[in-house]
Amino acid sequence: MSRPVHGGNLVWAAAIARCSPRELLDFSASISPLGPPHSVSEAIQAAFSSVVAYPDPAYGSLRGAIAQHHQISSDYILPGNGAAELLTWAARDFSEQAQLCFQLSPNFSDYDRALRAFNVPTQNIPLLTASGWQLQNWDRLLLKAIPKGMKARNCGILLNNPHNPTGALFAKAQVRALADQFGLVIVDEAFMDFLPPERSQSVIEWVGDLPNLVVLRSLTKFYSMPGIRLGYAIAQPSVLQRWQQWRDPWSVNTLAAAAGVAAIADAPFQTKTWDWLKTSSEQLFAGLQALPGLAPLPSSANFFLVACQVSATALQQQLLARHQIYIRDCMSFAALGDRYFRVAVKTPEDHQRLLAALADVLPSLPICS
Ligand SMILES: Cc1ncc(COP(=O)(O)O)c(C=O)c1O
Repeated sequence: MSRPVHGGNLVWAAAIARCSPRELLDFSASISPLGPPHSVSEAIQAAFSSVVAYPDPAYGSLRGAIAQHHQISSDYILPGNGAAELLTWAARDFSEQAQLCFQLSPNFSDYDRALRAFNVPTQNIPLLTASGWQLQNWDRLLLKAIPKGMKARNCGILLNNPHNPTGALFAKAQVRALADQFGLVIVDEAFMDFLPPERSQSVIEWVGDLPNLVVLRSLTKFYSMPGIRLGYAIAQPSVLQRWQQWRDPWSVNTLAAAAGVAAIADAPFQTKTWDWLKTSSEQLFAGLQALPGLAPLPSSANFFLVACQVSATALQQQLLARHQIYIRDCMSFAALGDRYFRVAVKTPEDHQRLLAALADVLPSLPICS
């Protein structure tokens, strides 16, 4: 079996760990350990009898619940089969509207899949340079990269905030300044819901002013439901109507739509998640930092990117074989290679197991030059 490009490939990892997928302790996929919320399983059970009919193609209830959550009109919302489906339509829009599309590197690998599908000319802006991580002045690097003779208006940007895999949170003012100049700006906020409202840097509030701005959201990570496949785009209705015409009328199934209505309205679950993440991420960060040879990057999301002095793929193999613990190697992030791994924030007990396993395995691996 070839090395997976996404985290969470439990079948691949279990074969190396020689256990069943259920026995693995999975840090590779950045999914909250708290969910899915009870409200979601109840909603799915209640909706089951409706599977005999096609879903409402207008997704009125789901769009209404999302609209209420973000305090915007439901005309500004298009649900999709995960943010991944909506990325496909974003890429099609880039192919029709942009001479060149900028993305930050490293980045979520599915962006390349979507952009390649429509042959979008793409330029990567490296965040990791010879002088280290450029996580503050990425916007200046992007502006400097516009080729001579090309106008920003004719270029697109595909951004992710908070950024996967670094966990960096970009200031919304930086994003706004770019959206004022560039043609089409897609901001993937798949991890933004992990920030409580007072820390959020979402740009949803500007979608009403800016017809070239699209925000993508996902219910996968925060509500622990990657298997449900649910995300949504927020943009002006003309953009969403165009995307809607390109795709099949029922991309979101009835059970996913019901799950989404319940999840997005579950305020107690949201507060519980924000409380959990604050204390748990501090604990995991401190534990990783204390291990010789590891350097985690500060993160605003529910995962840490960790620089290491050993081969991260060898570390992954050893953690699987000796401890049935699955970390995410970063081989699919072209800019990172074998000196980085990524781990999700989980429970204090799971962190203790990971930290003990790392303390056991790290000394047995050779330091790479
Ligand atoms: C940055 C980012 N955006 C989007 C997605 C896809 O989310 P979904 O499960 O909603 O398709 C992921 C999944 O890993 C991601 O990391």
